[in-house]
Amino acid sequence: MYLTREEERVLNGENGWANQVCMKILVRLGELFGAKKLIPIDSAHVSGVSYKTLGDAPIEFLKALADNRAKVKVRSTINPQGSDREYLNKKLDPNINKKQTLIVKQFKRMGFAQSLTCTPYYLEKPARGSHLAWAESSAVVYANSILNAWTNREGGPSALAAAVTGKTPDYGIHRQENRQPQILVEVKTKLGNETEYGALGAFLGKLLADKIPIIKGLDGAPENCLKQLSAAIASTGMTSMFYTEDSRWKTNKLEKITIEKRDIEKTIEDLTTASTSQPDLVFLGCPHCSAEEIKKIAQQTRGKQVKNNTELWVCTSPCVKNKTREHVSIIEKSGGHVLAGVCTVVSWTEKLGIKTIMTNSAKTAY
Ligand code: F3S
Repeated sequence: MYLTREEERVLNGENGWANQVCMKILVRLGELFGAKKLIPIDSAHVSGVSYKTLGDAPIEFLKALADNRAKVKVRSTINPQGSDREYLNKKLDPNINKKQTLIVKQFKRMGFAQSLTCTPYYLEKPARGSHLAWAESSAVVYANSILNAWTNREGGPSALAAAVTGKTPDYGIHRQENRQPQILVEVKTKLGNETEYGALGAFLGKLLADKIPIIKGLDGAPENCLKQLSAAIASTGMTSMFYTEDSRWKTNKLEKITIEKRDIEKTIEDLTTASTSQPDLVFLGCPHCSAEEIKKIAQQTRGKQVKNNTELWVCTSPCVKNKTREHVSIIEKSGGHVLAGVCTVVSWTEKLGIKTIMTNSAKTAY
């Protein structure tokens, strides 16, 4: 892979161990995927922030990077953690909280924004055509498909390395020739809500593997539904993006598949694994809620009360929670909890005695 003089210096360790190790990760990755060079990125987003999924060894690595003065070179954000200060911390083992705080602290020392969200695009929308290194698959598909930004599906370490170097290897979705649609999907049924869009994503993800589809029949789909589709398609398969209109492409030579009502119904049925109709937890906010969604949930909970023995969790970013205080207080008055910066999927629900979860998210169910 071609490296500039400056990149070579970093690789040789002239800018210290932390920068060297990050450059090594990117160069190795670039070589594996046949990249010819590194390209600058506008932003990085790192996943793998919950102590539940990380465990102890990566904490040492993050600490070593921060101790050796690793600093982000572009706007860099992080995924949600496994608990929050206001609600879950009080219920969990103090050792878990200590470790979780230690992880987030290392990111802060490196200059990461304390975004704690899988929807970083609600905080700052990337520019159309900009190159990113994002590691949350739901956000990757959303960024490529809805925002027309360009990012591969990074892993946590490669997104971290990209944040510290401000660069990423030029391969995959960063190249126009790899953004061509390969299959035409015709949705023959009207999708009624975000769960059905999620089910479409879960169904397609498995079917497509890593192929890029044009999905026809999504005209007028609301933003939150496209977000659910993005999250689900990424969770059951390796697709990095989809198109919602076909006018730019010659589609007559593409393989075609059609989606019928029964495909959506069967997917929802398969994702429904509960043996009881009484949930311990009703969970909304995978991916994290937008301000608009918080407002809608507030409208639906106003003046009502969450049932005894049931929890209602609504997950969003600290930023969106701050901006929607008025709606948050309506949800909280009803007995619900608006958790800022938490991902329920990587939190310790089993330690809280939660066995049955009801959700509108196909990704969570999967
Ligand atoms: Fe976000 Fe967690 Fe769902 S990171 S997309 S809430 S699994």
